Amino acid sequence: MTTYTTNLLDFSSKSAIVTGAASGIGRACARLLAHAGAEVVALDADAAGLEKSYAEVDNVTTAVADVADLSRVQAAVGTMAFDVALNAAGVMIRKDLTETSPDDWNRVISVNLTGYFNVLKAIAPHMPDGSAIIQIASITAHLGYRYPAYSATKGAILALTRQLARELGPRGIRVNSISPGVIVTGLNDTYFADPEHATPTISQTPLSRLGAPEDIANVALFMASPLASFITGEDILVDGGLGSTAHF
Ligand SMILES: NC(=O)c1ccc[n+]([C@@H]2O[C@H](COP(=O)([O-])OP(=O)(O)OC[C@H]3O[C@@H](n4cnc5c(N)ncnc54)[C@H](O)[C@@H]3O)[C@@H](O)[C@H]2O)c1
Repeated sequence: MTTYTTNLLDFSSKSAIVTGAASGIGRACARLLAHAGAEVVALDADAAGLEKSYAEVDNVTTAVADVADLSRVQAAVGTMAFDVALNAAGVMIRKDLTETSPDDWNRVISVNLTGYFNVLKAIAPHMPDGSAIIQIASITAHLGYRYPAYSATKGAILALTRQLARELGPRGIRVNSISPGVIVTGLNDTYFADPEHATPTISQTPLSRLGAPEDIANVALFMASPLASFITGEDILVDGGLGSTAHF
């Protein structure tokens, strides 16, 4: 009979970096990793949000940086060897193609795509064998949605994840993504406070609710842990079933 002597969700000898950690999904992931014992660097551009989020949380140090700026990211992380890296810093501009200006397009790309690249560029060379990278993508990478700049960055994250899984796998580094469905966070809480927006989404979701940041953090903890030790280059859609149904 197999005996389980170790807790595979114990991160107490591990270090982690989480971007977008001042709010929403990133914050829930950073807090859960810290709760599981990891020493966490919580990185975000929002200094006040970081301070508010971690004032009473152990195991977390904060770093203020704009992920779109490689030199700022490099200065914030140095040569630390992280066991877990989770990219979540992101922005959404709610505009269709006609309304999207070149500046809008470049801004979304610079944070949601170049920002992820910058963090990986700064930390991947120092990550040890057995480490894990998790990229927060989106259901919009899988399904037609309204906002082309945002959705294009999320599709690109799936491709980047697969390429890096191939490149970093031989070093024992796993690279996966999570595609959240609709999760109530700072990105959309005003929008979904309006029942006109929330009600149709809830009724199209088989599990009949909007998601919470913790729904994503739970899966991130699994993806970061040895429970997922043979998973790389993969994406998990965490959406209450929204993407599994046809809405017609
Ligand atoms: N909320 C959803 O429904 C949903 C769905 C799919 C994917 N996502 C993705 O999840 C990730 C987290 O978003 P969220 O929903 O938690 O939103 P959020 O607005 O609550 O959090 C995003 C965080 O990113 C930070 N950030 C933005 N630009 C930054 C920059 N240039 N440098 C550093 N930090 C920056 C913000 O300050 C904020 O703390 C994003 O990548 C988003 O695209 C969210």
